[in-house]
Order: sequence, then structure tokens, then C-alpha cells
Amino acid sequence: MKDFDDIRTLLDADLVQTDKVLIGRLSSNVALINQMSGYIIGAGGKRLRPLLLLLCARAMGYKGEHHHQMAVVIELIHTATLLHDDIVDESSTRRGKDTANEVWGNAASVLVGDFLYSRAFEMMVELDSMRIMQILSKTTNSIAEGEVLQLLNCQNTQLTEAQYFEVIERKTACLFQAATQIGAILTDANKQHELALKDYGLHLGNAFQIIDDVLDYESDFEAMGKEVGDDLAEGKTTLPMIYALKNTSGEARALLINAIKNADNTNINQVIEILSSVNAFDYTRQRAQESANLAKQSLNSIPNSDFKTALILLCDLSLQRKS
Ligand code: IPE
Ligand code: IPE
Ligand code: MG
Ligand code: MG
Repeated sequence: MKDFDDIRTLLDADLVQTDKVLIGRLSSNVALINQMSGYIIGAGGKRLRPLLLLLCARAMGYKGEHHHQMAVVIELIHTATLLHDDIVDESSTRRGKDTANEVWGNAASVLVGDFLYSRAFEMMVELDSMRIMQILSKTTNSIAEGEVLQLLNCQNTQLTEAQYFEVIERKTACLFQAATQIGAILTDANKQHELALKDYGLHLGNAFQIIDDVLDYESDFEAMGKEVGDDLAEGKTTLPMIYALKNTSGEARALLINAIKNADNTNINQVIEILSSVNAFDYTRQRAQESANLAKQSLNSIPNSDFKTALILLCDLSLQRKS
């Protein structure tokens, strides 16, 4: 097993079934909802969170029939957050296409995001597990807090690493954590295994978002399917910038401060040069590596299987990813 496709092959039937349920459950009597939800879900995406839930359930020996539905619940919540996030970040591309807010406007995007959230909750309730409902209600609450915290942190040049980590844990890692923990809960895994998979999800989610924040400077639309430079345009002080602000002085530092304070990415090439010159991207990738290592270590007590091997591989792939 060496890449994402190999992992997908391992779960082939599960993924096909999950996508079937996903498309099937988007249906609504309101035509615009069908059109918009079909547009963003149909544009693809890596389906990483459902994959994680399925791998964790399989690694614990799951034999039941609820895993596809739960995987869909997680992907619907993720997609709802993307619809809302693209409005807040004023993003114009996602998954290689114009964002929904670009095509239909902010109002329709907010409302269809709400539709996806509530459809996810309808589906979750059908499974009638109080523990899963507790986890997912807490998780969505935490995502909302993370996005609001991030909004409050915009244009702040004094942001600390601790504040940054608080935001990414809430806005991104929490949902990874819910996906992996629920995989264990579905299977009635013992407490030790459940906590192990929960920790794995949290650390992997952190690594994933840290790399996303590097790619927002280093990558391009062709690779990512979304425009880069958005974080600077929003005045978001992400980890590469936090590090660079601590390790520059004089004119270079003044340029970074101006860019963040004015939420202005017109000098992005100079900003990237400055960040590279102080090794801010190397530093940030190293921090992602630390989180990925913690994720791998969390799996120590999980019995060996192809599914566990895939979970370990996902730690490396999340660091090397280009999209
Ligand atoms: C994007 O997530 C949002 C972040 C947490 C960085 P993904 O990169 O998993 O998005 P899709 O689902 O593949 O489009
Ligand atoms: C992740 O943050 C967004 C959510 C968790 C909703 P970003 O704002 O970095 O995600 P992208 O880059 O737009 O996908
Ligand atoms: Mg965004
Ligand atoms: Mg991003």
C-alpha cells in the first residue's frame, strides 16, 4: 500500500455504497437545494473524513450496516462547513469550480449550508445512539466556535501559536476526531481502542490543517482546486506567518505586519519570499510532522490489519499531499 488510491481500493465497496447514500440523501422538494447540494457534492472532494470513519470501523472489525450512513453524516457536516467557510473567506473557487457563493450568492449558500447540517442531524438521529448524538452535537458546536474565534483573530499580528492551535483544533481536527471515534463506537470497541482512534483523529486533523495553511502559500489552483493566497487576503495569521513575525525584523517584518493588518495579499510574492527566507514553511511542516507522529503513536494499541496500515499511511500522505 503506497498511495491514496490503494487505500480507496481497500474500501472499494464501502466507498461506492457511501457515495450512493450521500447522493440519495441530498434530495429535497426545493429545486434550488437539489441543484446547489448536487453541485458541491458532485464536484468531488477527497472524501477523507468518511474514509477515516470507514477505516476505523473496519480496523475494529465492524460487521454491521450503519457505517455508510454515519460516513455520510460526517461528509454532510464537512460540506456544510465549506459552504459557510467560503462565504466568510470570500473564496471564489472550491473543488476546481466556482464556489456556490460565487454562483448563487451568499444568502443561498448560507441557507443550503443549513440544509446540509440539518439533513446530517436527521440522518444521525435515525441511528438512535445517544453517544454519537452527543459527540456530533458537541463537534458542530466546536466547529462554529473555531470559525468565530478565527474571525476574531483576523488581522492580529500578535497571535500566538497556542491561539492558532486552538482554532485549528476546533475548526478542523474536531471533525476528524469525531469520524475516527464514531468508527470505534459503532463497533462497540473497548474504551482503550476508542480513545486511541479518537486521539489519532485529533492529531491527524491538526497535521492536515497545518499543511493546508502551508499550501495556501505554496500551492496553486491547478493542484488544490481552490485559489491560494486566501489566508493572507483575509488577514489570517496562520502558522508560517506567526513564525515569520517572530523571526524577522526591519523592513521585512514591516511588510508582513502591513499585509496582515490590512488583510492585503497584493504583495504575496514578497511575503512568500520573506517566509521562505526565514524557513517558515520548513518550520511549519516540521510542526505538522510532529502532529502526524503523534497520530501514528496513538495507533500503537490497535491490532494490526490492512486497515491500520492504511491509517498509518494516511499520516504520511497528509504531509506529502498536493491537494
Ligand atoms: C478542506 O478540507 C477544509 C480544511 C479543513 C482544510 P478538504 O481538503 O478535506 O476538502 P475536500 O473535501 O477534499 O474538498
Ligand atoms: C478550514 O479552513 C475550514 C473549515 C474547517 C470549515 P480553511 O479556510 O483553511 O479551509 P479552505 O482552505 O477554505 O478549504
Ligand atoms: Mg476557507
Ligand atoms: Mg485553507
